[in-house]
Amino acid sequence: MSPKIAVVHSRKGGVGKTTLAFELAWLLKAPLVDLDWEGGGATRSWGFRAEDHLKRPLLDALERGTTPQPRAGRRTKRPDLVPSHPDFEFEQPHHETMATALRQWAGEWGNDWVVVDTHPAREEHRNGNVR
Ligand SMILES: Nc1ncnc2c1ncn2[C@@H]1O[C@H](COP(=O)(O)OP(=O)(O)O)[C@@H](O)[C@H]1O
Ligand SMILES: [Mg+2]
Repeated sequence: MSPKIAVVHSRKGGVGKTTLAFELAWLLKAPLVDLDWEGGGATRSWGFRAEDHLKRPLLDALERGTTPQPRAGRRTKRPDLVPSHPDFEFEQPHHETMATALRQWAGEWGNDWVVVDTHPAREEHRNGNVR
């Protein structure tokens, strides 16, 4: 069975998307992909600080056509995470390219589910486009 991708989206900020995505990913034992480029989202609550890393896991994978390795979090009661990066605001792909990449990654990770957190301004990432 091909993996399911749950995308948490709302046009409004501050309504609990990130909280829901984080909990859902934990409960579904799913990697969490953070597509919100603003600080203060899932990536920060997870404890990943983009400024401490040279690599940009999400963007590097998209650029190279590779599959990012989610960072392991379960031992410390966090979902595994593909962290976002501030550069994603300006370097993000077309939503269909992003959807194709997510399907590809989900297949390679082999989990039943993948959970995606989004930025309120990227309505195209809603479920209709990422199935
Ligand atoms: N179900 C909830 N009930 C009460 N407060 C919540 C709930 N979900 C989230 N919050 C709080 O609301 C604020 C915004 O949540 P967040 O998940 O960051 O929203 P978003 O990702 O939509 O911006 C946070 O302070 C969070 O702790
Ligand atoms: Mg959020």
